[in-house]
Amino acid sequence: MSPAILVVDDERAIGIAIQRLLVARGYEVETALSGEEALEKVASRAYQLVITDLNLKGSTGMDVLRAAKEGSPETAVIMITAYGSEKIAVEAMKAGAADYLPKPFDNDELELVVERVLEGVTLRRDLKLLRQQVAERHGLERLVGKSNAMTRVFDVIRKVADTDLTVLIRGPSGTGKELVADAIHYRSPRRDRPLVKVNCAAFSRELVESELFGHEKGAFTGATATREGKFEVADGGTLLLDEIGDMALETQAKILRVLQERELERVGGNRTIKVDVRILAATNQDLEAKVRDGTFRQDLYYRLNVVAVILPALRERLEDLPALIETFLAAAASRLRRPSRRLAGPAYRALLAHDWPGNVRELEHALEQAVALASGEEIELDDLPGAVRGGSEPDAGRDQEPPGSFKDAKQRVIERFERQFITDALARHQGNISKAAEDMGMYRQHLQLKLAEYGIDPGVYRG
Ligand SMILES: Nc1ncnc2c1ncn2[C@@H]1O[C@H](COP(=O)(O)OP(=O)(O)OP(=O)(O)O)[C@@H](O)[C@H]1O
Ligand SMILES: [Mg+2]
Repeated sequence: MSPAILVVDDERAIGIAIQRLLVARGYEVETALSGEEALEKVASRAYQLVITDLNLKGSTGMDVLRAAKEGSPETAVIMITAYGSEKIAVEAMKAGAADYLPKPFDNDELELVVERVLEGVTLRRDLKLLRQQVAERHGLERLVGKSNAMTRVFDVIRKVADTDLTVLIRGPSGTGKELVADAIHYRSPRRDRPLVKVNCAAFSRELVESELFGHEKGAFTGATATREGKFEVADGGTLLLDEIGDMALETQAKILRVLQERELERVGGNRTIKVDVRILAATNQDLEAKVRDGTFRQDLYYRLNVVAVILPALRERLEDLPALIETFLAAAASRLRRPSRRLAGPAYRALLAHDWPGNVRELEHALEQAVALASGEEIELDDLPGAVRGGSEPDAGRDQEPPGSFKDAKQRVIERFERQFITDALARHQGNISKAAEDMGMYRQHLQLKLAEYGIDPGVYRG
């Protein structure tokens, strides 16, 4: 698709000369002979580029510039100015012109300016597209869950995203705190500015300050150049203070000042720098307890805890499991280029029975491993990591088996069959061990040994 260009000049000969030149270069070019005609044209379609003389009869090139920008902000405008009118040219640039061409100019000059300006148009369009894609990939849609707790989380995110309110995102490890931060930023008016994430736990006290506030050259040994801190980098955007509960008290005091005054000094510097940053903070720690025992500043706590988003542990919202499982299975299958498989009953029950200390992250990894290992029609219990299968078997067990050994393969088939046989009987008898044992013609004690061996929890089948 060749870019559409409009050339506006009330001297017919000049307009046509420019048109010929650009058409020969493969552009699609229209002309307008007056300001009025130009205004009509820019109102009726979006041009990538408008080249207009500043001095037109009736209206001026500035009117054309404004109308073109109003109709489509992405349209670039090149202003042709009379010799000696640099001042007006500067004005045009301020009003949004991409460049100007002082008369007289030759063909090469014109071509060069047009090429450069159109390149800028393409770059800006690509950037816009990229930003849209990033925003879509980090939107609220990424967060899966239908439980009351998650519904509340979505609700809060929707309500606060377009404000500048500070949000404290809380929840155990792997519950999606970072996803929440993404969703807030990419739904906010700051979405085209950076979302900067700092892990407050990952740096020593000295480093965290230079990391956050930047440093001047020579501020300390190793500071060979001046560096902007995360606050400055995030200017106009959002700063996520991740693992805020692990921040040293001394740093807490400094952060507090920046949050209150919205200004800072770089380490080793004395110039005050103003920043416009929306703050998000995340932690898996009990901040209230930390305030009580004096390891977290109360004033900072109040500053951060303006709006709270609370993500409960996965075991407290097992209703979210089915949707999460479906999402992660599909994602892993497409990522690993595997056929999509369903979970076999026992595998599914093991997921329901598991305690999920690592929450959603653990689930995601478990299913990824299962998708990678599964070879049958369905994903079997054996394809899940040992920790999820029932805990008693070390995960490394199956990996240490020599691959391709017939005896091991046979053993695995037997085990798999036996496990299935047992869990099916338990399911038929609602987890009643005596009845299940009787049904299978086994001694109750023998079944109990098998349950321990396979890490099967009969409680899962009750009720
Ligand atoms: N509700 C959810 N829907 C979909 N994916 C989720 C959800 N919650 C978490 N995840 C996924 O789980 C993983 C962990 O999420 P995230 O990094 O946001 O957790 P976190 O709470 O920041 O953990 P940590 O405290 O360890 O930093 C990510 O891969 C994320 O995509
Ligand atoms: Mg995190």
